[in-house]
Amino acid sequence: MKTKILKHSILAVCLSLLPMAMMAKQEATVSSPSGNITLTTGVDNVGRPYYSLNRGKEEILLHSALGLKLKDGDLSNDFRLIGFSRATKDETWHQPWGEEDDVRNHYNELTMKLAQKKGLQRQLTIVFRVFDDGMGFRYVFPQQKNLSDFIITDELTEFCFKGDPEAWTLPFDADYYEGLWTKAPLSKKQKVCTPVTIEAKPDLYMMLHEANLTDYSSLNVKPIEAKEGYVRLKAELVPWSNGDLVRAKAPFVSPWRMLSVEDHVCGLITNRIMLNLNDPCKIKDTSWITTGKYVGVWWTYHMQHATWGIGPKHGATTENTKRYIDFAAEHGFKGVLVEGWNYGWENDWGKEGDKFNFTKPYPDYDFDGLQKYALSKGVSLIAHNETGGAAKNYEEQLEAAFSLYEKMGIKAIKTGYVNKVMDNKELQHSQYGVRHYRKVIEAAARHHIMVVNHEPAMPTGLQRTYPNLIASEGVRGQEWNAWDGAGGNPPYHLCVLPFTRQLAGPIDFTPGIFKLEGQVYAHTHPHTTLAKQLAEYVVIYTPWQMAADEIENYKDQPAFTFIEAMPSNWQKTVIPMAEIGKYIVTARQNRDNQDWFVGGMTDENARDISLKLDFLAPGTTYKAIIYKDGPDAEYDKNPYPMTIEQLVVNHDSVLKLHMAKSGGFAIQLIKQA
Ligand code: NOJ
Ligand code: CA
Repeated sequence: MKTKILKHSILAVCLSLLPMAMMAKQEATVSSPSGNITLTTGVDNVGRPYYSLNRGKEEILLHSALGLKLKDGDLSNDFRLIGFSRATKDETWHQPWGEEDDVRNHYNELTMKLAQKKGLQRQLTIVFRVFDDGMGFRYVFPQQKNLSDFIITDELTEFCFKGDPEAWTLPFDADYYEGLWTKAPLSKKQKVCTPVTIEAKPDLYMMLHEANLTDYSSLNVKPIEAKEGYVRLKAELVPWSNGDLVRAKAPFVSPWRMLSVEDHVCGLITNRIMLNLNDPCKIKDTSWITTGKYVGVWWTYHMQHATWGIGPKHGATTENTKRYIDFAAEHGFKGVLVEGWNYGWENDWGKEGDKFNFTKPYPDYDFDGLQKYALSKGVSLIAHNETGGAAKNYEEQLEAAFSLYEKMGIKAIKTGYVNKVMDNKELQHSQYGVRHYRKVIEAAARHHIMVVNHEPAMPTGLQRTYPNLIASEGVRGQEWNAWDGAGGNPPYHLCVLPFTRQLAGPIDFTPGIFKLEGQVYAHTHPHTTLAKQLAEYVVIYTPWQMAADEIENYKDQPAFTFIEAMPSNWQKTVIPMAEIGKYIVTARQNRDNQDWFVGGMTDENARDISLKLDFLAPGTTYKAIIYKDGPDAEYDKNPYPMTIEQLVVNHDSVLKLHMAKSGGFAIQLIKQA
């Protein structure tokens, strides 16, 4: 490996020393380590930077423009090439938690240095990394005489896709990303947020997104040209309220723009380019960052059985919380989420959001006593910090609140930003919001606190750098099955999320609703069978998984033993079979032993599948405990029937499984001695 790096650095030096006049072409290519993916970049005859991407001989991205517009100039043309340099990397890094323990980061890098010929002669550098399963690039704004503080008013980055492939997308303005993902040819899309999941051919699946969103604004894309043979997408950033897109000071870097490229749909889920394009972990000692499961005083509010604010139906009382702590201790859950415990909810929430107080409990909630009680039983409270979008008010209290939680031994918080805008003005997904979220994550890291971020900016793999950011919402989650006037999430929704929102990072979906009818509105409830609720625990990934129902609903339920058995940290993830939006089977191996957990689920259509257990180690026997849809089960009319059976299986076993309409199965595979 060392020799390889040395060779590349020598080559890099040689190339950068070549005078431009000697370089015939203002263009260079870089191939992935195996040579299957090749990126070409250069400057055209008006000095405009561009790139294109191939898989073997097959064109994937055609000539696509690069560059930016600034308030006081243009960084998109009039460039001359200063030079190219190359590097290569092959490392394997360890995740404190994740869908697998070790991640290989193997790429070839090409850096293109540009300077403008006239005027301010500004410099711009573009760094490309090409992996065997995709690519990423970013803009670097070097320190220079004629670029200090600057404002980006447009990012001109293009992604010109060959053909007009089908893509799964979410509109850029879906509130908090809580919308339904839809499939249509790229040319038919409006402005959409990323990730964009592209089904190009039976053997070409891609995901377009960004990685390491730091001090920049979130990426959206929209088609700007569709011709026979191609569709051209252009970057569209979320603005500040005055129209600025990004406020920066050189030296500065943009987030990575990335495209994963897979032969098979299942590969999208195990592709790790996004994580690899993030910076290594900045938290020196990560031993305090844990994984686990939690219950909480939460669904009861969404069921309108209790209120967040103080009053006769207040949910966050000492007595009620104690019941949840006792339940958690009894069933092996490490956390109890409590919402509505602090002053602020009694206000006209949303409008008066700036009154939330993150240290002062309501008088009927013995914050200190409850946490001591929880700790004595091996459990901890998870403090809820709803801000109502008042980010400044929260920032002013961060140190005081996090110091208090740390002193009390509270290890995790759930943050929330329910409001159209932050601080009455700025969009959550703008640079303003991105800066705020980062402040919270960094402050929390200093105080050894893990964060579950609701109403977030779309995740971009930041958990590699800050593993205390354990999950985000940014999804049409379970709560929609409580109060959505249109009936709740449709059955196919859960079969889309693993290939769309989940590619951006762990989701706090809050699975495990066992009482599947009789909710707030007659037709609004989870449109799944009970077995599919169990499958959510394996298919939807987060290192802190909730059993979201009111605890009474878990009483005397044999299905609950699967949730009790489930870990939430994995050494390996395999997707044996799937079709986006139709069905998916996910298998994950426990981080702590050799056991596996499998979840399968289908859309509104019943399905019979043959599941090969060839992911099990050969020569090993496993006891399989299978939780599957019972006879006659189907999601809306008869969601509860479940059959639990036990089998002995091995690497060669093939399980014949029936999934009811919007049903599924969950399997625990216990390695036999
Ligand atoms: C929306 C969040 O998604 C939900 O989990 C929470 O209960 C409410 N906001 C109140 O903060
Ligand atoms: Ca929400």
